[in-house]
Amino acid sequence: MSTTTKAADKRITVPDIMARKGGDPIVSLTAYTTPMARLLDEHMDILLVGDSLGMVLYGMDNTLGVTLDMMINHTKAVMRGSTTTLVVVDMPFATYEESREIAFKNAARIIAETSAHAVKLEGGVEMAPTVKFLVERGIPVMGHIGLLPQSVQAIGGFRARGKTDEGYAHILEDAKAIADAGAFSIVIEGVVEPLAKEITSTVACPTIGIGASVDCDGQILVSDDVMGLFTEFKPKFVKRYADLAGNITDAAKSYADEVRSRKFPTDAHCFGIKK
Ligand code: KIV
Repeated sequence: MSTTTKAADKRITVPDIMARKGGDPIVSLTAYTTPMARLLDEHMDILLVGDSLGMVLYGMDNTLGVTLDMMINHTKAVMRGSTTTLVVVDMPFATYEESREIAFKNAARIIAETSAHAVKLEGGVEMAPTVKFLVERGIPVMGHIGLLPQSVQAIGGFRARGKTDEGYAHILEDAKAIADAGAFSIVIEGVVEPLAKEITSTVACPTIGIGASVDCDGQILVSDDVMGLFTEFKPKFVKRYADLAGNITDAAKSYADEVRSRKFPTDAHCFGIKK
């Protein structure tokens, strides 16, 4: 039995997500293609076109090489497959940090060219003025604090954050600044559990955890991790719900065996001449 609370015929909006603070958990996965968006749409509240697509689809070592054009093309594909979810798009590295004006120009391009509903950007206190600038000009922003994949070079790897008193306090300040700037929700990634809990009870907007806490207002994961399609590595916070990589390998092997032993194609797959 499905426990979804969303209407089957109506698209979820930014105010709908904001109203879920402290209520039914917000469910979200990444999507990068039309077929995946079609499969996930019914079950999700938010589809994130994450810049994780650089690693998951393109085999990059991190997300830093992802471009605005890549994000726009994949978002157009996701929009074709989505009818009921809120579609949020990651602003890639170096498209929003330089100035609020450049951030607005690039965010507006994403929204105008794809019809997606909101953007997400990484950063805390230092990005709060940018978040405010975009929100005041009509662009809904999802924040992203804690472990910031676009800062992987600066932080020296994908390690959990908030373990020291100083780090903990810093991330709490980041959360407050991004919430006060008007973000409609905040992704909290890879932080110690009590910190995610404290942020969730402190800020007015919903929090969406990834490697954070069950007490967040929602959860997000990379769909290819969840489906067992991305098998290069598995972060501690990932739970695999399927083994699609195994299924694909089995199917490829069966096909190869049948072609080599001339068991495929059979008459059922060939065209005859009408008698
Ligand atoms: O790029 C991404 O996929 C993300 C996560 C929060 C899942 O930012």
